[in-house]
Amino acid sequence: MQSLLILGRQPALGIAELESLYGSDKVQVVSEKVVIVDEDPCLLAFDRLGGSVKFCKILTTVNTNRWHEVADFVIKAAPRQSADMPEGKMLLGLSEIGFNVPLKQLEASGLSIKKAVRSTGRSVRLVPNKTGELNAAQIIHNKLTSENGWDLVMIKDGPKTIIAQTVKVQDIESYTKRDHDRPMRDSRVGMLPPKLAQIIINLAAGKLPEGKLKSICDTPLDQEHPRPSLGQSVLDPFCGTGVLLQEALLMGYDVCGSDVEERMIEYSSKNLDWLNNIYNLGLEKYKLEIGDATSLQWTNDADIVACETYLGRPFSSLPDANTLKQNIATCNVIISKFLKNIAPQIKSGTRLCVAVPAWQTRPNQFSELPLIDSLSDMGYNSLRFEHVKDSDLIYYRKDQIVARRLLIISKQ
Ligand SMILES: C[S@@+](CC[C@H](N)C(=O)[O-])C[C@H]1O[C@@H](n2cnc3c(N)ncnc32)[C@H](O)[C@@H]1O
Repeated sequence: MQSLLILGRQPALGIAELESLYGSDKVQVVSEKVVIVDEDPCLLAFDRLGGSVKFCKILTTVNTNRWHEVADFVIKAAPRQSADMPEGKMLLGLSEIGFNVPLKQLEASGLSIKKAVRSTGRSVRLVPNKTGELNAAQIIHNKLTSENGWDLVMIKDGPKTIIAQTVKVQDIESYTKRDHDRPMRDSRVGMLPPKLAQIIINLAAGKLPEGKLKSICDTPLDQEHPRPSLGQSVLDPFCGTGVLLQEALLMGYDVCGSDVEERMIEYSSKNLDWLNNIYNLGLEKYKLEIGDATSLQWTNDADIVACETYLGRPFSSLPDANTLKQNIATCNVIISKFLKNIAPQIKSGTRLCVAVPAWQTRPNQFSELPLIDSLSDMGYNSLRFEHVKDSDLIYYRKDQIVARRLLIISKQ
């Protein structure tokens, strides 16, 4: 059984996340943004994947990469496919990855598929393409993953073509709610996007036990569906407003957060109360404490450590060399002290994903923390990925100076 995933804006992060959860041997990279995972689609925890935008089932693979031949194949198969669908109007969507066919040609192929289905007496609505690929919003808005939807994705794979059907897309509304509707936000400590928080947790989690992968977001929670527990705890020693703790709770982890600022602990507490209410989590308390991560003795044992550390001064433009150097040095001291402080407090083999600052000094070029070269002296092993280079594990936007470098390490 295989699942096909279409990755988001920074595909390397999405691939690393999948390798972490399912193991590199189960991950096959088809193209820059398409990955096949050897995992039963029913067990794939799509809702906890921050780096995958679409989740598809593979319908078939055809032995050609010529667009018109692929389109002809689908035109012939479409009437049979529509016969298996419930009565009513068919909602048809078409996307291509890797062919770069002109939009007009894509549209013409869509119209031919529509015509083939209509010849069976069924009405069809074809969703118009603005680009080669329909985005998550178009798919949700046009109900293309409903039982009458048929959202086809043709993916060029060397001399072949994979024909897949979208089963699920990232729930944009839920992410927006989790991000913008939280009662306490603070732009000064930075806004960790929930999707990145999920990626950080997944990179820290590593392989999960069989059957434990399904995220609770897959099922609405109520009394009949209480929040399942993974029986593992996540510690965020720089919890700020609690985005990472929120996402960990939704995945089914127990959480523990600390921050040097009392105000942040209040913010996290209010945000977790809010989450508890709107998602019916039924939680009675969370472990939150005020404390300096460079010296704190945490009272709870953590199975996983996942955090976005202090990121230094916010810069909207590149500072002069001296200011940057001082800022890097300050961050390096705090984060090194934190790593040295927590090392004796966690068990050997404990995985950590620590998002630390990196500074974009030129487009796609980064100044990094010196501590990255002494992780092993501090008692950690750096974990490597088969399909992703370490240097690609950086989350950033084009014009952003302060990027986040994801360190994935384990206690020796
Ligand atoms: C980039 S923010 C993290 C934001 C967080 N991910 C969130 O969801 O809001 C870094 C946080 O680290 C905290 N911090 C800075 N130095 C610290 C230290 N030495 N120990 C603990 N927390 C610290 C800051 O108060 C801030 O809340």
